[in-house]
Amino acid sequence: MIEISDLSMHYQLGATRIDVLRSVNLSVAAGERVAITGPSGSGKTSLLLLLSGLERPGSGRVAIDGTGLGGMDADALADLRRDRIGIVFQSFHLLPSLSALDNVALPLQMANRPDAHERAAALLQRVGLGARQGHYPSQLSGGEQQRVAIARALVHRPRLLLADEPTGNLDDHTGEAIRDLLFELNLEAGTTLVLVTHDPDFAARCDRVLRLHDGHLTEVKNSRAADAIPV
Ligand SMILES: Nc1ncnc2c1ncn2[C@@H]1O[C@H](COP(=O)(O)OP(=O)(O)O)[C@@H](O)[C@H]1O
Ligand SMILES: [Mg+2]
Repeated sequence: MIEISDLSMHYQLGATRIDVLRSVNLSVAAGERVAITGPSGSGKTSLLLLLSGLERPGSGRVAIDGTGLGGMDADALADLRRDRIGIVFQSFHLLPSLSALDNVALPLQMANRPDAHERAAALLQRVGLGARQGHYPSQLSGGEQQRVAIARALVHRPRLLLADEPTGNLDDHTGEAIRDLLFELNLEAGTTLVLVTHDPDFAARCDRVLRLHDGHLTEVKNSRAADAIPV
């Protein structure tokens, strides 16, 4: 599903160079549940952006389903995300002028799907926001906006879900419901989960836990070690 080889990335701020990833390797099989942990500023968000083709690496290779992202132009990357990848951003990226329902329906509408609103409504129901469909992001709390963002990321049934701290703003009860939803989806549809998280309950339920530190990615847990491809 995901192959990362010798991946390096840095940001250049004036004279200062920040090496975020240093020769990172990772293979994730379809259907695996992977948690990515690491201190603030260790590059977790940057890694998700590289996996989704929203950032380009300095060097190295990212491939999704065997296709290298390096050779794809912006349109091809947008098609890849629309067809196969759901992304929950740390800052949600909801469109302020659209209701919760329209935010969630948008990815399906862009694909001309006639069932866009019906499916969006069902997902909002599933994240506990059935009664808030007509509300705009500014009328929703941080945790509610996060759940809208999760519903939007799932609405087109992606094979790969990339989620940046998806329970970061949620109370225990709502966090539990979102964890259950993501793992149900994994079991029902085989969706591969790559979750950046500080949430120990998430990490405990994942097959693998990886830690980013000083630009290096190390595996700290692999409960499928016998059949998984080593990092
Ligand atoms: N657009 C950017 N320009 C310059 N530096 C950035 C940019 N985005 C992130 N960084 C820096 O890169 C490092 C990794 O950031 P990030 O991937 O957001 O880490 P994390 O998600 O683990 O907190 C941090 O030091 C951050 O300040
Ligand atoms: Mg981050």
